[in-house]
Amino acid sequence: MMAAAAREKLLKTLQFACSGELAAGLAYRGHWRSVSDPGERERIRAIENDEWHHRELVSTMLRELGSGPDPRRERRATIIGRTLGALCHIATWFPPMYGAGKLESRNIREYEAAARFANDSGNERFVDCLLTMAEVEWEHEAYFRARVESHWLSRIVKVWSQPPAKEEIRKSFSSVSS
Ligand SMILES: [Fe+2]
Ligand SMILES: [Fe+2]
Repeated sequence: MMAAAAREKLLKTLQFACSGELAAGLAYRGHWRSVSDPGERERIRAIENDEWHHRELVSTMLRELGSGPDPRRERRATIIGRTLGALCHIATWFPPMYGAGKLESRNIREYEAAARFANDSGNERFVDCLLTMAEVEWEHEAYFRARVESHWLSRIVKVWSQPPAKEEIRKSFSSVSS
């Protein structure tokens, strides 16, 4: 990919991710407060903190690129995140766990794509951080998948497709970019 096109894609993906982390952070804040199991509360609260940390890292990258978050996306993310967070208090246990897992599986791919765009646009210095974030999202996905699969409803509701093994994140990156 041409460097200029890759840079454009990198910027868009980072803006998308930055607002996505905002929505996720707000949604998880509602989610952990709505569950009663102490272990689940603890883990989802830690996941919320991971998302705020990701948002900081992505914001810093955007700033370094002379850009920033997209204000329209940010406003939308705030509404979506707050709404989802509030809905967690109304919904039963299963839908928020399911929704979170499905979303996390998308986040893995999003950071993998960002790492490739960073590499192709001469921003190799972001690659390791982006792949690490993909790996953290992989852990989040695995957690919500395990919770969903522990529930009888997962025998009726089809669970989203399972991501490749965690090691594949780095392996597939180096095979594409070398
Ligand atoms: Fe994240
Ligand atoms: Fe996540």
